[in-house]
Amino acid sequence: NVGSSTNIVWYECSIGRLERQKLLQQKGCVIWITGLSGSGKSSVACALSRGLHNRGKLSYVLDGDNVRHGLNSDLSFTAEDRAENIRRIGEVAKLFADAGVICITSLISPYRRERDACRAMMTEGNFIEVFLDVPLHVCEARDPKGLYKLARSGKIRGFTGVDDPYEPPLDCEIILKQKRGCSSACDMAKEVIMYLEEKRFLH
Ligand code: PPS
Repeated sequence: NVGSSTNIVWYECSIGRLERQKLLQQKGCVIWITGLSGSGKSSVACALSRGLHNRGKLSYVLDGDNVRHGLNSDLSFTAEDRAENIRRIGEVAKLFADAGVICITSLISPYRRERDACRAMMTEGNFIEVFLDVPLHVCEARDPKGLYKLARSGKIRGFTGVDDPYEPPLDCEIILKQKRGCSSACDMAKEVIMYLEEKRFLH
């Protein structure tokens, strides 16, 4: 039922995005972290938010697991509900970016089409897709919540990477990989901060 509202007119407030960005001394954007369960999305998102905070920049993390406790508590893990989960988080992230905030999302967001739809919602250049490229066998060996084990034994059905698809980005802004010597969430967050500095999001 997307777009089913009728007889509504957009109301433009006199304070716009540019004024808010000037106040905050930063450019609002969406940093969309995608990757398998157990790839470390939440850790990277939090390390990134901490790194930005330490530089005096305002960010906010929308974590898939957390948003599913409230706004998206009505959604399951069917393809349709995952798509709706991604769409809603995309819309909320768009509002944060419009507020001038650096919005970091961390949800599996396994489908390319839905991620691309979120990208299309944002002002060009303000959607930074970050692929946390951790192979399935590594995520599965970590299994921090024991969910892969449950999925392999058939106790969870439709688990991403096991019996539900994950479509890696074909052309994203940043790919984070674990290097030899093991990159920490903090090192990965620094890579993203460098990108934000280069693209002048942090003024
Ligand atoms: S999605 O696909 O983007 O809608 O998923 P997301 O909102 O990020 O939620 C993923 C977390 O939910 C737990 N979980 C599952 N993940 C994948 N598949 C199935 N079937 C599933 N059931 C529960 C899991 O803890 C995910 O958390 P992360 O942090 O990714 O490990």
